[in-house]
Amino acid sequence: MRVLLTGGAGFIGSHIALLLLQKGYDVVILDSFVNSSSKVTKAISNYLLTKSFNFNLNTITGDIRDKNLLEKIFNDSIIDNKPIQTVIHLAGLKSVSESLTNPLHYWDVNVCGAKNLIATMNEYKCYSIVFSSSATIYGLTDSVPIDENHQLSPINPYGRTKVAIENMFCDLYKSNMNSWKICSLRYFNPVGAHPSGMIGEDPIGIPSNLFPYISQVAVGRRDSLKVFGDDWDTDDGSGVRDYIHIMDLSEGHIKAIDFLNSKESCFEFINLGSGNGYSVFQIINQFELSTGMKIPFSIQKRRDGDVAKCFADIKKAKKLLGWVPKRSLEQICNDSWNWQRRNPHGYK
Ligand SMILES: NC(=O)c1ccc[n+]([C@@H]2O[C@H](COP(=O)([O-])OP(=O)(O)OC[C@H]3O[C@@H](n4cnc5c(N)ncnc54)[C@H](O)[C@@H]3O)[C@@H](O)[C@H]2O)c1
Repeated sequence: MRVLLTGGAGFIGSHIALLLLQKGYDVVILDSFVNSSSKVTKAISNYLLTKSFNFNLNTITGDIRDKNLLEKIFNDSIIDNKPIQTVIHLAGLKSVSESLTNPLHYWDVNVCGAKNLIATMNEYKCYSIVFSSSATIYGLTDSVPIDENHQLSPINPYGRTKVAIENMFCDLYKSNMNSWKICSLRYFNPVGAHPSGMIGEDPIGIPSNLFPYISQVAVGRRDSLKVFGDDWDTDDGSGVRDYIHIMDLSEGHIKAIDFLNSKESCFEFINLGSGNGYSVFQIINQFELSTGMKIPFSIQKRRDGDVAKCFADIKKAKKLLGWVPKRSLEQICNDSWNWQRRNPHGYK
């Protein structure tokens, strides 16, 4: 079965691509490489070659807003006698701060890009899609755990583009309820790396997320970690978030494809998180254990738009997908560190 994986060279996409190939899927990656390295697909192939896997990976460099290119990809797959049966749509922009300074670009890439993709799918009668949504759409809430019925109130343009895309899917589904199979996965904080240490997260510039930042402190690329607030209403005063191992998240996508394949039609939005909250201090402690190093940090004042605790209710994923996350915080930190110490400068 052929899967089109948009954004497949990115952090999340590269791990999903590897797993799909290991499961025997034929994978076409479409990526513009605006936020990823051209070495990613080589790393995926190298890993599979070391395991003597036969695999079928095709990487296409291009933009999801290029309708002619999308049509060519669907067309070529039909000519190959391997029509694209499912799309996993990850391509998009994800920086909250950048979305505040350049909102129209976010609407263009994320929303117009998604519209272009699903219009092409419609033309080629490919009706099955897994979409990368985000917990950011729930907005500022202390009401944890957060389930899928929680109201949506994103506080930035990035989050609003994700809600707009979910709404577009909803309208599309209602227009043709016999055909479309749509699963919008709302990720919490995907972290960690493939246990081989051959693929992992390689942000461009200064990382805005805790895990890549702390890894870069441990490997000596940054001096110290900033902890934003130690006076939150949590057990140790630092903020609590839901961190999910990237391999658990990737397995959730395989389960989502199985789920869509088992349906005549459907539209579901499903949280993918660990279902647990971990504090920043817990993570620093575990990272120190995993690395055997002291992680220097400084306490800063709280950031606007932060909350004390945020973690997922993952009952729906368990029930519908039969998916449960298996990896611990210890494994997350071990795998993050394994990737970072083997690749201090990422893919460079
Ligand atoms: N990482 C997270 O914490 C997180 C959380 C929730 C949701 N998500 C969503 O998951 C998806 C993947 O996230 P990620 O962390 O792997 O990000 P990433 O930036 O590493 O991957 C996204 C990929 O999409 C590509 N891309 C961007 N614009 C494109 C375009 N116009 N055409 C083709 N390719 C394009 C980038 O080059 C990159 O390889 C994103 O849509 C993101 O919003 C991520």
